[in-house]
Amino acid sequence: MRVGVLTGGGDCPGLNAVIRAVARPSFERGHEVVGVRAGWRGLVEGIFEPLGPREISGLLPRGGTILGTSRTNPYKVDGGVEQVLGNFGEQGIDALVAIGGEDTLGVAAKIFEEHDFPVVGVPKTIDNDLAATDYTFGFDTAVFICTEAIDRLHTTAESHNRVMVVEVMGRHTGWIAVMSGIAGGADVILIPEQPITVEQACAEIKRRHERGKDFSIVVVSEGYELSYESGERRQVTQETATDEFGHVRLGGVGHELARDIEERTGFETRVTVLGHVQRGGSPTPRDRVLATRYGLKAADLVHEGRFGRMAALQGDDIVDVSLAEATAELKTVPEDWYAVAKAFFG
Ligand code: F6P
Repeated sequence: MRVGVLTGGGDCPGLNAVIRAVARPSFERGHEVVGVRAGWRGLVEGIFEPLGPREISGLLPRGGTILGTSRTNPYKVDGGVEQVLGNFGEQGIDALVAIGGEDTLGVAAKIFEEHDFPVVGVPKTIDNDLAATDYTFGFDTAVFICTEAIDRLHTTAESHNRVMVVEVMGRHTGWIAVMSGIAGGADVILIPEQPITVEQACAEIKRRHERGKDFSIVVVSEGYELSYESGERRQVTQETATDEFGHVRLGGVGHELARDIEERTGFETRVTVLGHVQRGGSPTPRDRVLATRYGLKAADLVHEGRFGRMAALQGDDIVDVSLAEATAELKTVPEDWYAVAKAFFG
């Protein structure tokens, strides 16, 4: 068999560990492995590179992706899907492992459905917003980086009696904010799914100061819509244009929130936007292990010809689910997780 591997969408720690874990058993089974460059763009444009034992050596701790990535959507390129099918056939590839989030795997689900395309998926994203799996790989590393940042901000916040607003990624879900906020002991956490108002956030901060604590940490997810008692709600974006999957570029809510907090509470407020720092670098041990288990599962699914499936984590078990189920809707933060965070507000 000739097995293709593709990494699409935003990069995240653990992608290379998956590539390694797909390739190793595939070599042992006598299969060839070929890397598709730059996500779906590589299949549209026909950009491939052979992967042998030498290429996959030393990958386990390495951040980013050796294959490169893109946010290309073949369904938005004129003749894109036909080019994908054509290049795939020309290369003599028998199966594709697509490692990606809702967008990359959404394409995989659709092309499988429409063309019986031999693809299996691996759930990747720091946002942890894919359904049908408990966790995506990359998330643990992002939470670890954000938690460390919150710890560091604590000491400087305390020295200066300041409110520190920390903006984290997560797109339209607040998983990174909630988990790093709980782990870092945040005093208020604002997420898209449970939008408390700016006035409520300020009340929590004031309550805390009345208790004698003269500094506070506020974690805000980039997708939180600024919400006010008046009923006004506002999404802060970096630009209005959308990408090929219809996403706007989020970011900047932290600055507006900080201004609002300073104005309403009178407390000196600073803001830190963690940005792509939380997506770069080496994966945590947990992500290395999860990525490895996912990669092995994907290699098995390919070997058994079980296409249209995605490796998933349920409890402590690696299982497989349908790509359609995994991409049907976003996995949002449920109320009971937010309740854990809220128990420590103020
Ligand atoms: O989906 C992962 C993610 O990091 C989101 O949290 C964030 O909104 C987006 O990607 C940023 O994308 P880009 O790399 O295009 O700036």
